[in-house]
Amino acid sequence: MGIVFHNQAQEFHLYNKEVSYVIKVLPNGQLGNLYYGKRIHDRESFKHLLETGYRPLTTYIYEDGPNLSLHCTRQEYPSYGTTDFHEPAFEIEQVNGSHIANFEYKQHEIFQGKKMLEGLPATYIESIREATTLEIILYDCLIETELLLTYTIFEELPVITRHAKFMQKGEQSVFINRAMSMAIDFPDYDYEMLHFAGAWSREREIKMRKIEQGLQSIYSLRGSSSAEHNPFLILKRPSTNENQGEAYGFSLVYSGNFLAQVEVDSHYTTRVIMGIHPHTFRWILRKDESFQTPEVVMTYSDCGLNKMSQTYHKLYRTRLVRGFWRDRVRPVLCNNWEATAFNFNEEKILHIAKAAANLGVELFVLDDGWFGKRDNDREGLGDWYVNIEKLPSGITGLAKKIKKMGMNFGLWIEPEMVNKESELYKKHPDWVIHTPGRRMSQGRNQYVLDYSRAEVVDYIYEMISKILREVDISYIKWDMNRYITECYSSGYKADAQGEIMHRYILGVYHLYEKLTTEFPHILFESCSSGGARFDPGMLYYAPQTWTSDDTDAYERLKIQYSTSYVYPLSSMGAHISEIPNQQTLRSVPLETRANVAYFGAFGYELDLNLLSEQEKELVKKQIEFVKKHRELIHKGRFYRLESPYNSKAGAWMVVSENRDEALVGYYKGLNEPNAGYIRLRLKGLEEDASYYIDQKFNNFYGDELMYVGLVIDEKELCSRGADFSSVLYHLKVK
Ligand code: DGJ
Repeated sequence: MGIVFHNQAQEFHLYNKEVSYVIKVLPNGQLGNLYYGKRIHDRESFKHLLETGYRPLTTYIYEDGPNLSLHCTRQEYPSYGTTDFHEPAFEIEQVNGSHIANFEYKQHEIFQGKKMLEGLPATYIESIREATTLEIILYDCLIETELLLTYTIFEELPVITRHAKFMQKGEQSVFINRAMSMAIDFPDYDYEMLHFAGAWSREREIKMRKIEQGLQSIYSLRGSSSAEHNPFLILKRPSTNENQGEAYGFSLVYSGNFLAQVEVDSHYTTRVIMGIHPHTFRWILRKDESFQTPEVVMTYSDCGLNKMSQTYHKLYRTRLVRGFWRDRVRPVLCNNWEATAFNFNEEKILHIAKAAANLGVELFVLDDGWFGKRDNDREGLGDWYVNIEKLPSGITGLAKKIKKMGMNFGLWIEPEMVNKESELYKKHPDWVIHTPGRRMSQGRNQYVLDYSRAEVVDYIYEMISKILREVDISYIKWDMNRYITECYSSGYKADAQGEIMHRYILGVYHLYEKLTTEFPHILFESCSSGGARFDPGMLYYAPQTWTSDDTDAYERLKIQYSTSYVYPLSSMGAHISEIPNQQTLRSVPLETRANVAYFGAFGYELDLNLLSEQEKELVKKQIEFVKKHRELIHKGRFYRLESPYNSKAGAWMVVSENRDEALVGYYKGLNEPNAGYIRLRLKGLEEDASYYIDQKFNNFYGDELMYVGLVIDEKELCSRGADFSSVLYHLKVK
């Protein structure tokens, strides 16, 4: 298992227990794809899978080359303009104005292990036995450019990662106008495309459509992965559901502009491409320079969507997230944002913190408004030193006082942004991304700092690292509250302006890398007006992400449910906030707010002083519950049971690795008069094991719970079964 090269057939077979992927060097020297899917037997040659169908009047072939029309041949990393008319994986503009390229196989290397990507986030391994890598070098001798295609197959997971790298060997520079991370051609189009679209406060709604001839795509041109689309898509067979059937997942480890596109052609083949969005992208490659794309993580499941999600959870939780916090349970936190917004002083913060400490909270987070002259969102961003008027003992003094209460201290920053009303802007107005001579757009009264320039990143690093060195800080919430417009950098020449969007993200990654390396014990949570940059690129640096600014539990149920298609529970910041909820004005019972937030990185986002004594007792119990069960929640296997998108209720569960324990959440939407029985069929249990369910004071066999179902009695739901009631069951083998 791993990767074999069949020399005579010039074919590569990448396989493990679950998947197979077959690449062939085509008769013209380019690379073709013969198969991707469920594991098949290895054989000396798969050449019968090379179909080069002759289509009358639509097939074009070279006059003097092999009888091969690329349009009718399934390829690995195709180009446009020779005999293929699909959208390509790459495009190279040459000095003579030509866009035609011809990369032919030159050599390859197969080795145990996986290399890291320079300056870019990527999945990794801990021992070389965990993965095998294939590097194929192709060469275009006319422009003297090398193309390196890298494939890694994981040993124990149905995962193949890919990325591409261009290297200029010749004297003449070229422009890369498009460089996708991957492309693949499937021989049919019997698929549905599942993706996750939304907007601020309703991120990642599940969308599904049957693919058809033409293009269907999702993308971001906002400078970040965005709330509107997530860099993730699934192709599944129409009959595939959560528990059975074939599905292919494509997840891009990147936080900037992206394109994920599915093209079905007139002969019903399907091409998927994914990578940096080519619009406005243009990278100049001079002699001896190289350009490397981000990584795509492809998974295959023949047991439905839930299995696919479990694969991503395992990989991302253990081989994408890094460092001190990777395997540690996350602290229960209290954040002051929804309690105070900008309107606070030290006394008010300490008052909120005291209530949190008394109830068992472990980490207090001071959100926006502590720095510069920041009493509203029109001023202060960029001035990363404490506002003494609000906090007379400084951040250091405040952190000490919070520590004394028995909690750790965390801080909010938004290091990529600046307000015009700030000292930083007055000093360096040219550090803002803007196009000279054009009007500048603001969003939330702020502007984006030009992170494509090293001096800007260095300056911000100095300011932030100074605070982290001086103050006892355990957690940082790194926010980012606007997209990029009028993209242009005065730090670069005209021919490099097409690089700025990507260079911006590289600058963000660079700062993250520096800070996380220097302060390895700090837990970073990424945030972007909630979940507008919830992507695998961010998870490489920050193990958790603020899932959404929508803290209404009923909405959150949906957002967390859909986020779970690719991201693990441990990565989803999930807090209990006040009612009526600030975003929806809805009032959901405190128990349900907790029952939803338990399935994430748990916390509170309100002034706990305002709760009744009875509610405070409940909060105490919630925190005890989290402390007892968070290991199971964060590391267990997650099962989606009922979708809150298409039924009156939602349900999910998490099962420990050895199946001896589980936690089930069942959530009702609007109450129904005269309702029927509720039976919830559980998943992932041991058939023969007998589970004690605390809430039922009784034992049940795994088979009964999975095949008959858990009988849910209305009386077990909180708030006597009123709207948005819910129930949680804890199962343990006893
Ligand atoms: C947007 C974030 O999503 C909120 O949680 C909060 O931190 C505000 N920004 C602060 O400005």
